[in-house]
Amino acid sequence: MMTSNEIRQSFLDFFRGKGHEIVPSSPVVLPADPTLLFANAGMNQFKEIFLGARKPSHGRVADTQKCIRVSGKHNDLEEVGRDTYHHTFFEMLGNWSFGDYYKKEAISWAWELLTEVWKLPKPRLWATVYTDDDEAAELWRTVTDIDPAHILRFGKKDNFWEMGETGPCGPCSEIHLDNTENGCTPEMVNAGTPEVIEIWNLVFMQYNRKSDGSLDPLPSKCVDTGMGFERVCAVLQGKKSNYDTDVFAPLIGAVSRLCGKPYADGTEEAVAMRVVADHLRTLSFAIADGVMPSNDGRGYVLRRLLRRAARYGRKLGFSRPFLCDLFPTLEAQMAPVFPELAARRAEILRALRSEEESFAATLDRGIALFDEIVARLRAEGKTTFPGEEVFKLYDTYGFPADLSALMAAEQGLTVDAPAFERFMQEQRDRARGARKDRTAQDNDVVAALVERGLSSEFTGYGGLEADAQVLAILKDGKPADALAAGESADLLLTKTPFYGESGGQVGDTGTIVSADGALRFDVADTRKPAQGILLHRGKLAAGTLRPGDWVHAAVDAARRAALRRNHTATHLLNAALKQVVGTSSIRQAGSYVAPDRLRFDFTGSDALTRDQLAAVERTVADYICANAEVRTYEIPLKEVPGSGIVAVFDEKYGDIVRVVDVAGISKELCGGTHAARTGDIGAFRILAESSVAAGVRRIEAQTGPAAAEHTLAEHDALASVAARLSVSPAEVPARVEALAAQVQKLEKDLKAAAEKAALERGAALAGQFTDIAGIPVLIADAGDLPADPLRALADSLRETHPDGVVLLAARDAGKVAFILQAGPAARDRGIHAGKLVGAVAKVAGGGGGGKPDKAQAGGRQPENLPAALAAAKALISKALGA
Ligand code: ALA
Repeated sequence: MMTSNEIRQSFLDFFRGKGHEIVPSSPVVLPADPTLLFANAGMNQFKEIFLGARKPSHGRVADTQKCIRVSGKHNDLEEVGRDTYHHTFFEMLGNWSFGDYYKKEAISWAWELLTEVWKLPKPRLWATVYTDDDEAAELWRTVTDIDPAHILRFGKKDNFWEMGETGPCGPCSEIHLDNTENGCTPEMVNAGTPEVIEIWNLVFMQYNRKSDGSLDPLPSKCVDTGMGFERVCAVLQGKKSNYDTDVFAPLIGAVSRLCGKPYADGTEEAVAMRVVADHLRTLSFAIADGVMPSNDGRGYVLRRLLRRAARYGRKLGFSRPFLCDLFPTLEAQMAPVFPELAARRAEILRALRSEEESFAATLDRGIALFDEIVARLRAEGKTTFPGEEVFKLYDTYGFPADLSALMAAEQGLTVDAPAFERFMQEQRDRARGARKDRTAQDNDVVAALVERGLSSEFTGYGGLEADAQVLAILKDGKPADALAAGESADLLLTKTPFYGESGGQVGDTGTIVSADGALRFDVADTRKPAQGILLHRGKLAAGTLRPGDWVHAAVDAARRAALRRNHTATHLLNAALKQVVGTSSIRQAGSYVAPDRLRFDFTGSDALTRDQLAAVERTVADYICANAEVRTYEIPLKEVPGSGIVAVFDEKYGDIVRVVDVAGISKELCGGTHAARTGDIGAFRILAESSVAAGVRRIEAQTGPAAAEHTLAEHDALASVAARLSVSPAEVPARVEALAAQVQKLEKDLKAAAEKAALERGAALAGQFTDIAGIPVLIADAGDLPADPLRALADSLRETHPDGVVLLAARDAGKVAFILQAGPAARDRGIHAGKLVGAVAKVAGGGGGGKPDKAQAGGRQPENLPAALAAAKALISKALGA
């Protein structure tokens, strides 16, 4: 029996034998493709090649791709654990043709691998083709010896594959395997039974789906295939369930041992163990590729997945973090193929543990909030738990909705489920709307430009100016024949020195003018939605612009110089952090390079200490003083692994990559614009260090004149403090310490004095109770007194006359405070402290209230205090019937 590692290898070897280049899996997070949260198919990393926006270096490639399907179009989450063959994380084996071979080879090689190399019984195989794809049906009949009765046609739902709402798509031909005892019927294919499953999908990529739903033909026809690795392992290892293969068995075994329960198919425990095993894989691979559980986007998906795993874990009896204890099993098994699991071990373990711990805290907090809501509902005599509350608990506090439902049922309350669903739907719509607007339009724009064969050459590494022709004018994404003064548009030029936002560096600004100067287009931003597509967004200030016009493009040079300093400084900061904190614990999680500042996000859960931050600043300063040369050159992507060159997970790389090499300090893959030497940066100052998400820290910094300004401003502040204290700047810390100690002592003395005064005042006031209709009443102005001692004073006075009424007023910081207390006898006679005190405070320009026995209120008109006290006397007398 072949092991899963052997199966993977034999797939790759087979296609190598057919002239394919074996390429690495992309990370589970795809680069600048905001239509996708996670890689969900092998073809994602080749999307631009299909669209014609990037040239492939090989016409045919094959790989195993790490995929995550938890959201969006391809979403298997609900099935996971319940059945035996859907996973949130899985490997997709695939082979591709980029305008090279087409249907014939794709079909005949698939057949050859399955039946000749892997020796799957032919009568057990079924092929499906798209309704009108006669060509594929005919090929199955002629280039393979499949039973012709096993060639079935299906419609769009099953046999037309699309990457997402937009993007490359085309008809497909799937291969299904019959695992039934007695052979299956055509009706059982595509019917969702675990005995007859799809194992391989051959997509004939032909179209690009645009955001308005229409289809455009692709520049050339391509093949995109995907085989479910875990499923094929089950088939070849003769297992009924993917979880019984050697891909999952070690993990399932570890879960079972850890919880002390057997893995018995058909039980709720088995479902829980499968969920745990599945989600652990997804979490570990995603964290290894740089995604951290957090509150939005991908991070949020991970957080939810972890919580789902933790909740199933509870069913298995785990009450403390346990996923981290299972990780070593996964690592031992998968790291030989995916070494990132070992390289990122510490990060993965830390993230799993801290998320599990914080989820436990979330549950505790959610339960407390839930109890409060129930108490309120009870008091109001309600029996329905509102859907909005379930949603709020879930959305704001992360408290799982099904848990709310369960706990509500335990309390004899019914959840308004339809209302909850409505809130959820609204939230989903909001999220989808936001995602679509931003990116769908750019997708269409790129496709339309590429279709017309238009692209732009970037000349901005070497110079900041270029003469070029206008290739296209896009108004709201639509090509236009002319642009009039005052109108905004995106311009595509034959070549451009403008850098389009990418790799964290913001886009260039500048001007595009005509030779005679009659025309001026002010560029406010430059985007790069795809390779070779640089869009200058701006407004035409004067003249009329038409496609074909010759123009002179000039980047704002001072702004670009600042960007270069900040970008190189970001690399230096990355290197310095590694040196100060440790290479293995610092990994870039994002960056933002603007002209006035830079931001660098990195993994790590602990805040940097002041000493560490100072050391980082000093190290960067040393790099700057070294005036090291910054060189850039290109190398094949293949040479990157093991070279020590730093790559970032969410960047997209072609086959040839650009290295930014700061001599002796750092080497990073980067397309950005950089200083010529580190000395150009001039100065570097850290502005702030903070947390942006669980396990992700952020450093903000400035360079050059901005850093110098920052330092000067700090110095000015210090100098003025020193002058005020009449000491030298160096003596400031000691002086401030001494002052702080002095303030503390004074505060203590002051408090003691106030307490003493209050006691004295209390003694005086205790003799001032008067009798109103049989109730002892004290209405008095207690002078200047803060809230706390005023309350204490009122308490002590009430003690002298437990049945009486005490109303005190006091002034503090320009305001007045009232406090009213009423004993049982007074209350029986109709005194309500809350209502009365509110009425009294109103006279002094304020309000307040409280309980019948004790209440407080405030006012903003100390001058009206005597009137308020007079009113109090009248009101109390009236209430007591005097
Ligand atoms: N891209 C195709 C799929 O994911 C092969 O099924």
